[in-house]
Amino acid sequence: MDGRQGASGRRGTERLSLANQRDLFPTPFVIDNLQSDAGLAMLREAIEAERTRDSKGLSISNFGGWHSNTQMLEWGGEAAKALIHKAMTMADEACVDIKSPDANRFGWVPQMWANVSDKGDANQYHTHPGSFWSAVAYVDDGYERDTDPGLGGELQLLDPRMPMVRMAAPDLHLKDAAGRPVPSEISIRPQTGKIVMFPSWLQHAVRPFHGEGTRISIAINLTAALKRSR
Ligand SMILES: [Fe+2]
Repeated sequence: MDGRQGASGRRGTERLSLANQRDLFPTPFVIDNLQSDAGLAMLREAIEAERTRDSKGLSISNFGGWHSNTQMLEWGGEAAKALIHKAMTMADEACVDIKSPDANRFGWVPQMWANVSDKGDANQYHTHPGSFWSAVAYVDDGYERDTDPGLGGELQLLDPRMPMVRMAAPDLHLKDAAGRPVPSEISIRPQTGKIVMFPSWLQHAVRPFHGEGTRISIAINLTAALKRSR
C-alpha cells in the first residue's frame, strides 16, 4: 500500500503502513512574484504619499520604522487593489471549502498596511489573531543588491508545534520524511518583487535590518467570511 493513499480523506482518515514515514500537519508557505516594476513603483509612490500625510503612523509589533494605518486599500490606489486581488487568488488556491469544494462559500475580508524600515528596525514575534492568511509583499527589500547575509532583515518563522520534546533536548531534532532535520526556526531573506503568504497563526518576526537602503513592505491579512447568498 502506498503510504500516501487516504491522504485526501476529508476527515483526515489515514491508513497505516509499515516502514514508512509521512509528515503530518504540514504548514504551507506560499511564494509568488508581484506583477510588474510599474506596479511596484505605484505602490511605492502611494506609500510615500501616505507617510508624508501621516508621518506618525502606528506602533504595533515594530521596533522602529513606520507602520501605516490599516486602511491601505483606501489610500493605495489601483496598485493596492491589484495586490489584494493577487493575495486573494493565492489564498483561494491554497485552501478548500471541504463541504463545497467546487463552489467555495467563503470570501475574504482584507486588511492591508505598509511598513517602512531603516537601519536597526525590527519586528518582534507575533501572530495575526482572527485572520486566516497573512501575506507580505516586498516593494523594496532595502538590500540595494548587496547579498551580504550580515545585513539581517530576514523574515523569521517559528515552528508552531511548540512545546516540543526538544525543550528537554534542544540539539535533538525530528527528521522529516526525506530524512532531513526539521528546524525549529526558519529564516527567509526578503526579495524585492516577491510576495509570501502563510497561515495567520504562524508566529513570525523580522530580524534587525542593517542595510543602508530603506525596506518597504506591505502586510495583508485575509479574514475568512461566508459570502452573502444572493
Ligand atoms: Fe505580521
